[in-house]
Amino acid sequence: MCGIVGYVGSREATEVVVGGLQRLEYRGYDSAGIAIFDPDCGLQLRRSVGKLHNLVLRLGQEPVTGRVGLGHTRWATHGNVTEENAHPHRDASGRIVVIQNGIVENYLELKGRLLELGYHFHSQTDTEVIAHLVGHYYREEEALEPAMRRAMAELRGGNAVVAFCVDEPDRLIAARLGNAGGVVIGAAAGETFIASDVPAILDYTREMIFLEDRELAVITRQGAAITTLNGAPVTRRPVSVPWDPVSAARGDYKHFMQKEIHEQPRALMDVLRGRIDQEAGQVHLEDLRLDDAALRQVERIYATACGTAWHAGLVAKFMIESLARVRVEVDYASEFRYRSPVLGSDALLLAITQSGETVDTLAAMEEARAQGVPSVAIVNAIGSQAARVADGGPLYLHAGPEIGVASTKAFTSMLVAAYLFALRLGQARGTLRPAQIREHLQALVELPGKAATVIERALPICEDLAEHYYRASDALFLGRQVNYPIALEGALKLKEISYIHAEGYPAGEMKHGPIALIDEAMPVVCIAPRDAIYEKMISNIEQVRARHGHVIAIGTEGDTLLASKADHVIEVPPTLPLLQPVLTVIPLQIFAYYMALRRGCDVDQPRNLAKSVTVE
Ligand code: G6P
Repeated sequence: MCGIVGYVGSREATEVVVGGLQRLEYRGYDSAGIAIFDPDCGLQLRRSVGKLHNLVLRLGQEPVTGRVGLGHTRWATHGNVTEENAHPHRDASGRIVVIQNGIVENYLELKGRLLELGYHFHSQTDTEVIAHLVGHYYREEEALEPAMRRAMAELRGGNAVVAFCVDEPDRLIAARLGNAGGVVIGAAAGETFIASDVPAILDYTREMIFLEDRELAVITRQGAAITTLNGAPVTRRPVSVPWDPVSAARGDYKHFMQKEIHEQPRALMDVLRGRIDQEAGQVHLEDLRLDDAALRQVERIYATACGTAWHAGLVAKFMIESLARVRVEVDYASEFRYRSPVLGSDALLLAITQSGETVDTLAAMEEARAQGVPSVAIVNAIGSQAARVADGGPLYLHAGPEIGVASTKAFTSMLVAAYLFALRLGQARGTLRPAQIREHLQALVELPGKAATVIERALPICEDLAEHYYRASDALFLGRQVNYPIALEGALKLKEISYIHAEGYPAGEMKHGPIALIDEAMPVVCIAPRDAIYEKMISNIEQVRARHGHVIAIGTEGDTLLASKADHVIEVPPTLPLLQPVLTVIPLQIFAYYMALRRGCDVDQPRNLAKSVTVE
């Protein structure tokens, strides 16, 4: 949440900072602001309410110039969406500016102290507290770096902060406290970049250094000098990020979500690449740090995640329990540590996260570490915090950057990564013989092609469906067994981008409540592939029809019975039952996309949401 960009070098800083913010806007779009310094023009601050576009317009009318600067795109936590609350914030002297991502948990206490000292506040934000605190210590220290150290030492909560002072115009100071989201530094010849996330600076460098908890970096043209907040020097080698700038751009697509839906066949290939040996019937997970002996010890897995990734966890439970015969519990990461979980010495935490920066998921990993339980992270963002702290190793999705707030390609890649993990576990524990694994691998390699077929088929049907149903105020999604989480995911996709109230339910539970909602105005999406509980699903569809609900069915190719029962059908090719969700979810993504489009909603940046949730 909130995007941060900073630059020191010889280019026009505004271009770098605004360009970077454009790539980070998915982190928050309530307001945006920049501060650029030039020896002749001084410190130039521009802030605007609303999307970054408004700031760009403002900059067109009131341009700024300089070779050093910083910028911020805000997801409001403290205080309304107003220009006064937009970052950057200034200290009392007006010579120091600060941007922040996170929450200062003790800001009221700090603000009280600063008010007593005579400081005046112009905003309701916790960030302004940091600005005044840094300014206060600057007066004593006469240098920004020690002032930042002292200010950071007083903050509680997860926070990433970047500061600039006009009296030290050759540098930015960045510091990180807790899990407030990433701080990534990229150094090139004679210039240094800083951002909350990799895509912001991918145009300039792929060599990235990630700042860890309780570290501070002095950013100059020559690079970054990193120390702990206590001043101990830190040597860190850059990580080479294999993403190219094109992968983070929208290209010819109208929306990132649309692009990412279309990227799924490729992403499904990339998650498999180099990890399967079909001849030998084996799975190799290169980054996994748990060998066969360690995997054999695991008797319980806690899958923890948030949002769409949590739905992937629900599917992973089916995969792991069925293929590796290990018990799996699935937890919302935001609940996990607050229920004092009893993990046990034979447990493993499976964190699932696209961004690798979701604060609750990171906290669940911390809880596991505190109980001596190893973590494995199914994660997309290379070098992210989850990838770094997973002592059992990251299992990268290799899906490329996902920018659309509604997750699509990361979700289907998560399902395949979880499947690979389940196979790897089954291989180590001897629950699967190579011949069986071979069959699973064959199904996996056929998936990308099948996903492409589903996309092609679903696009025109969903566009028509949207025309038909875009006025709906509610929708119900039903699925059973492994497709129950897909019903949840379909409902989440629809509600988050089209603002239609939608509920996902296990179809068998419909009779215990939701059936009361069904009438002739209610579209009911039923996921009904030909599987072991197909007939039960058909009965549930009959029950919906008897109440005059409109049935949109997702079914298996050539299923004439289903076609005769439903108002609309989208067909998916057959695959192994546990892999069905990878295909059945795709029409639901496309349905949500067209519904949102038809209702005139902002598909990539739905109201109130942000892609990386770095606050609790
Ligand atoms: C936010 C995003 C969702 C995402 C969830 C978890 O709510 O809007 O798309 O599923 O966070 O994010 P993660 O990065 O941990 O997968």
